[in-house]
Amino acid sequence: MTEISASLLTLDKENAIKTMYNLEAGKINYFHIDVMDGKFVEKNTTEIMKDYALTASHISNLGLDVHLMVENVEEFVDEYSMLEPKIITFHIEAMNNNEERIKNVIYEIKNIGSRVGIAINPDTDIEKVKKYLPYIHMILIMTVVPGKGGQTLIAETLEKVKKVKEYIDENNIDIDIEVDGGINDETSNKAIECGANILVSGKYLISSENIGEAVRKLKE
Ligand code: DX5
Ligand code: ZN
Repeated sequence: MTEISASLLTLDKENAIKTMYNLEAGKINYFHIDVMDGKFVEKNTTEIMKDYALTASHISNLGLDVHLMVENVEEFVDEYSMLEPKIITFHIEAMNNNEERIKNVIYEIKNIGSRVGIAINPDTDIEKVKKYLPYIHMILIMTVVPGKGGQTLIAETLEKVKKVKEYIDENNIDIDIEVDGGINDETSNKAIECGANILVSGKYLISSENIGEAVRKLKE
């Protein structure tokens, strides 16, 4: 069953609470919290994303899907632990191929009771993460270059979704495949066909007149 995770990156502060209520009424499954440290990616959203995550956790029971686009992963896992996120995802590119460190972060995230995701950028090969798939709950395949909302999906990344889907099916690995970036009513069904079962959508959902309708179109 396809799940929808609404990215709050393009949410403007004055409409935040109203929009969060509308997103929940529109039957999204998670609030997607895009944490950017200004080092792993240019933008720094640490303050506003913490504010949105706190607000969402106060006004809704929907899970937080925390996407860490940061270098110091351990620091932000710590910081977000008190909100008991449903999912915490870190980027493999932030870990300098340090297997020990990657395994420790996976353990830390499980230790706070969250599901573990590893994200890979459009130009990162899936070979980089294959060995960790049996130990995590989700792989986040970036369908845009991380750093901002409202971008256009990079078509080649859907080939990667297909390859990951084939690999996890062949190897009986029970893991979610999340896609993130440029997901809208035109791109969502191709992403689902390729094997994604969690769709992150930001601009398309937040700018839609009828969020419920928009969510339904994503799931079609
Ligand atoms: C980009 C973020 C995405 C983005 C998705 O770095 O990780 O979550 O906000 O937003 P849209 O759907 O507008 O591309
Ligand atoms: Zn994201």
